Amino acid sequence: MTTLTDKIAIVTGAGHIQGIGRAIALKLSQQGATVILTDIIDPAQLEQIAADISNETGSECHSLKCNISDSNDVNICVKQVIDKFGQIDILVNNAGVASGSTEFLGLEEKDWDLSYNVNIKGTANFCRAVLPTMLKQETGVIINNSSLCGLGAIESIPANYTASKFAIIGMTKAIALEFASENIRCNAVCPGVVNTAMRKGAVSRIAEQLDISLEEAEKVEDEAIAMKRAADPGEVADAVAYLASPAAAYITGVALPVAGGLSQGL
Ligand SMILES: NC(=O)c1ccc[n+]([C@@H]2O[C@H](COP(=O)([O-])OP(=O)(O)OC[C@H]3O[C@@H](n4cnc5c(N)ncnc54)[C@H](O)[C@@H]3O)[C@@H](O)[C@H]2O)c1
Repeated sequence: MTTLTDKIAIVTGAGHIQGIGRAIALKLSQQGATVILTDIIDPAQLEQIAADISNETGSECHSLKCNISDSNDVNICVKQVIDKFGQIDILVNNAGVASGSTEFLGLEEKDWDLSYNVNIKGTANFCRAVLPTMLKQETGVIINNSSLCGLGAIESIPANYTASKFAIIGMTKAIALEFASENIRCNAVCPGVVNTAMRKGAVSRIAEQLDISLEEAEKVEDEAIAMKRAADPGEVADAVAYLASPAAAYITGVALPVAGGLSQGL
């Protein structure tokens, strides 16, 4: 018996093979949870990722296409999970977007709209959709994927993204406070630099700013980390699995850096 046997978990933004969401889904599945992957990407690709996880772990893994910015889509997705499984024990709000200029005045209204609609409203949409079920169950765990830049502004990270990640931590703490007495925990993880497709964007911004190659920019970023390397997505997944587990039963309202000692910025 593993720590999450009989648990039903939803992981958003799990559609990238090298992404943090897929790594979280795999880890929860290895712990025995039935996992439902959601993402905005091509459903066939998402279904394949779910099938691969299921084959690897032996736990049930399913996929549902869902745009987290659209509350109707989210409500339909959550209803489908409840109709099929009758419960939702764990929600991991992992989906997120990073876009826009690193110069504040270079950011356009569309950049602010996107980071608000996906990172903030999308996270809120899923919390709003699952909380009534968690209240009925008198138990539930929510883990939101913020960022180290949700704790402090970091050079080369656009302000719209930083603001949205601060907001996710604010939302996490407000939910933790309001629902703690109902036995619902809500925490955030704050990854630093993680080796995913999203990192490539940050590396190319550094390369452009310093007029250096992508390889050199990656080294510059690694050097700023106390552990001198970026995280593997699985290392973020380990932190999420811990927060989802009974071992973290008395932890709520925290924003946990998973950053190899990288400083949180201003
Ligand atoms: N990679 C890093 O260095 C890093 C650092 C700190 C925080 N994060 C956070 O970790 C999370 C995962 O990032 P990643 O690096 O794996 O990036 P990623 O781009 O691989 O994953 C993000 C996923 O979110 C999905 N998505 C985007 N918009 C969506 C929408 N409207 N509805 C549903 N799904 C949507 C994408 O399709 C993608 O699969 C993000 O929230 C990101 O902000 C990443």
